[in-house]
Amino acid sequence: MSRYDFQIPVVFKHHIVFTRNAFATENPELARILREGNGRRALVIIEQAVATAWPHLAAEVEAYFRETDVEFRGIHVLPGGEAVKADDHWVRETWTRIDAAHLDRHSYLLAIGGGAFLDAIGFAAATAHRGVRLVRFPTTTLSQDDSGVGVKCAINAFAKKNWIGAFAVPFAVINDFCFLHSQPEETCRAGLIEAVKVALVKDRAFFEWIEENLAALAALEPAALEACVEKSALLHARHITSGGDPFEAGSSRPLDFGHWAAHKLEALTSYHLSHGPAVAVGLALDTLYSSRAGFAPPELAERVLTVLHRLSLATYHPALDWLDESGRRRVFDGLDEFREHLGGALTVLMLKDIGCSVDVHHIDRDLVAACIDELRKHTAGNLD
Ligand SMILES: NC(=O)c1ccc[n+]([C@@H]2O[C@H](COP(=O)([O-])OP(=O)(O)OC[C@H]3O[C@@H](n4cnc5c(N)ncnc54)[C@H](O)[C@@H]3O)[C@@H](O)[C@H]2O)c1
Ligand SMILES: [Zn+2]
Repeated sequence: MSRYDFQIPVVFKHHIVFTRNAFATENPELARILREGNGRRALVIIEQAVATAWPHLAAEVEAYFRETDVEFRGIHVLPGGEAVKADDHWVRETWTRIDAAHLDRHSYLLAIGGGAFLDAIGFAAATAHRGVRLVRFPTTTLSQDDSGVGVKCAINAFAKKNWIGAFAVPFAVINDFCFLHSQPEETCRAGLIEAVKVALVKDRAFFEWIEENLAALAALEPAALEACVEKSALLHARHITSGGDPFEAGSSRPLDFGHWAAHKLEALTSYHLSHGPAVAVGLALDTLYSSRAGFAPPELAERVLTVLHRLSLATYHPALDWLDESGRRRVFDGLDEFREHLGGALTVLMLKDIGCSVDVHHIDRDLVAACIDELRKHTAGNLD
């Protein structure tokens, strides 16, 4: 018998840029990235809604590549939004386009769109030839302040969120702030929840900054929005690059605070409730639970709920109360699915204070139900 234990030392670079007008020929950022990779070819895929909002974008991209040494293989416009992740249709379509463009593993696939689009196109990029170089251009608050700077991609399957997916570090992420200003207002606002989340879990000073800037953030004022996006993105990226578990091999997932309920609410509502608004509800629920279970002081819940209300983010959704045939709240399936998706024991992060958390392995479902009652009444009270 023989046994050999090897280590595979791999270092991933994670380039994240914040800029404006990334395709202006005088903007050096993309050129620097293309040069660093020394790649031969590039194919560009733009989300339909972004192409519509920016009618000159395709021409700008083409003009940009005329000035580079990279062989430009064209632009495709594909749909986005949650429907693009619903099954593998658009992943297959993207593989077809990658194949037709003869991209190889040294080529670049530039993907310009929101979080759902980047998840689907990113999965296609991660799996074509076992990975072509993906340059992400996130175009929504949520994709710039969270998902776009992460190292994951996925589509949905078996009525479950992100069931098919991969960990794949993008070649680069270019957060072009200009794109933020054409997204639908509701999308723009909802994406702020991931900033609130990462502040709550990681950075008290950032949470206090959010509180101080609530009026400007609630009004989606560009300067406040952009500052919030950049700070949130950096906190997410810092956790991934320095937190010791970039590919989530362990059980703790601090960046998924409030997400066990959120992912289930998305699936229960057939994705009519999208990710940002679902996280707002899930985060409100887990914050209230943290306080009511005694992990955190009662004032914490009041403080966080105030922030969410001032940002006009709803903290209750009727799907929290939907029951199965045996009279059990269906949202609780989210706990089992969360554990299964992660592997290992159930681990849910709860807050002890702002910027300070604890991993718990048991959730008191009666207490969750009481918190749901509180959120429902609170919402009804606010509507009166
Ligand atoms: N991979 C990860 O680590 C990760 C993390 C968090 C969330 N996500 C995923 O991200 C998705 C949510 O992303 P999202 O909030 O960006 O929503 P989204 O991608 O669904 O976009 C929301 C809407 O805005 C439109 N849009 C996007 N950018 C636009 C622009 N600049 N101008 C005009 N319209 C624009 C889209 O067409 C869509 O209708 C979810 O599927 C969620 O699961 C992934
Ligand atoms: Zn999220």
